[in-house]
Amino acid sequence: MDPMELSVRKGNLEQESCDVLVLYAFHIKKESKRAAFPTDTTLDGLLMKVMDEERFHGDCGQTIFVRTEGLIPAKRVLVVGLGKKEELTLETIREAAAAALQIARSIKTKKIVSIIPIENEELLNAKNVAQAMTEGLRLGAYTFGRYKKQKKNGVTSFVMMSADAKVVGLAKKGIVQGELYSKGTMFARDLGNTPAHHMRPIDLVDAAKYIAKGKSSITVRVFGKDRLEKMGAGGILGVAQGSEHAPYMVHMIYKPSGRAKKRVALIGKAVTFDSGGLSLKPADYMMTMKIDMAGAASVLGAFSVIEEIAPNVEVHGIFAAVENMPSGKAIRPGDVLVAMSKKTVEVLNTDAEGRLTLMDTLCYAQKQKPDCMVDLATLTGACVVALGEEITGIMSNNEVLTQKILEASALVGEKMWELPLEKSYKKLLKSHIADMQNIGGRYGGALTAGLFLQEFVDPKMPWAHLDIAGPAFAERDINIYTKKGATGHAVRTLLEFLRSF
Ligand code: BES
Ligand code: ZN
Ligand code: ZN
Repeated sequence: MDPMELSVRKGNLEQESCDVLVLYAFHIKKESKRAAFPTDTTLDGLLMKVMDEERFHGDCGQTIFVRTEGLIPAKRVLVVGLGKKEELTLETIREAAAAALQIARSIKTKKIVSIIPIENEELLNAKNVAQAMTEGLRLGAYTFGRYKKQKKNGVTSFVMMSADAKVVGLAKKGIVQGELYSKGTMFARDLGNTPAHHMRPIDLVDAAKYIAKGKSSITVRVFGKDRLEKMGAGGILGVAQGSEHAPYMVHMIYKPSGRAKKRVALIGKAVTFDSGGLSLKPADYMMTMKIDMAGAASVLGAFSVIEEIAPNVEVHGIFAAVENMPSGKAIRPGDVLVAMSKKTVEVLNTDAEGRLTLMDTLCYAQKQKPDCMVDLATLTGACVVALGEEITGIMSNNEVLTQKILEASALVGEKMWELPLEKSYKKLLKSHIADMQNIGGRYGGALTAGLFLQEFVDPKMPWAHLDIAGPAFAERDINIYTKKGATGHAVRTLLEFLRSF
């Protein structure tokens, strides 16, 4: 498949030849209130006429094709609705760009020219808008092609156009950043979509090495089973012991070229397949469990473009890659594991395995003396029950860190919502025979999981836990640029968060 070229140029829409010219319209109540497109003068008011006839109100996602009959070099105009002007967000722009491309593609288009729908507002400036368009276009066109024979032919170029040279300059920067954000997200999608027999713990190690290859700013350390034993990583080893595949801890370090003022640790859950272990999952729940390494995939996705994004912060990406399987060697319900911190944990349910790998990974991460730690994990079905499939639950011991992450997530359009680390629920994790048990009661499962992790974090260490169990994998299309499958959720939030230092 020819990759689509994405660019921005100064130019005149009326003189540009292309298959589809994309224009955008805000919602209007009455046809008479509609503002005319400048291009429509050359088109003898054709756009206005067709929009009126077809009752095109510019609703969000509404589109209409108009043949230009040789009045301008563009063969067709595609008008895309943006909804109400006062409700316009970057998210609308992502979706509108993705919609434009997908509709244009359905009529075998090669070249698309598009205006930049809005150029001069504070948040909706040319850079941010071009970035959002780029993300919508790239993420919307993503497919996981590894096992498909037939590759589709598509659009070869998408050119954004403005008459204003300053806008073009800003949009160029936006495109570069949008390409990187998308690339990181698609890297994570590929990892998450790959079935577990091709995405074993060792394959995640290879992914980290692949990212670091040829990049002077990134180093990778890998710890095998022997080293994990020496470290006392009883949780990681305990979960891994039922699987044929050996566990690994991966520690990636990004150092910016200048002197970094801050050090951040990003920790990902990396269970390459979660069968539940001896507390075996029912078949329906197991179907998508190749996604249980999505936390690590998001960290890897961010690292895959971190050198080019070049945030001014030292970043440590850490994950423990394991597979959770039942076997004669697997941990049993009732077994007691000793964490790296020396705390003992009674494993009452082997399906609550993510927290067992994370307890050691958090301990290890803390030893790197970061200024803050963020972990990402497909940790609980309970979080999906609480917030649904599109929203990540964020639990944190630090209000400033929470706000920083929430701001980043809002800007990139990845939904997150804070959940409490309720102290009084700690009692639910008390064990009869060990320091703790790995499951809470019947209710509040996302919170007891968060509280479990908190036991392994120094109270003075700013830390946030992101339960991405819902949004990591889309069981159906979520929106026009987030289709069924692994979503790469949180990669763009992480990149935006890192840039804010
Ligand atoms: N990986 C699952 C959580 C999950 C559920 C991720 C749905 C993605 C989508 C996790 O390891 C798990 O099995 N959690 C259990 C915990 C329970 C046994 C306390 C759960 O949520 O049921
Ligand atoms: Zn599980
Ligand atoms: Zn799991």
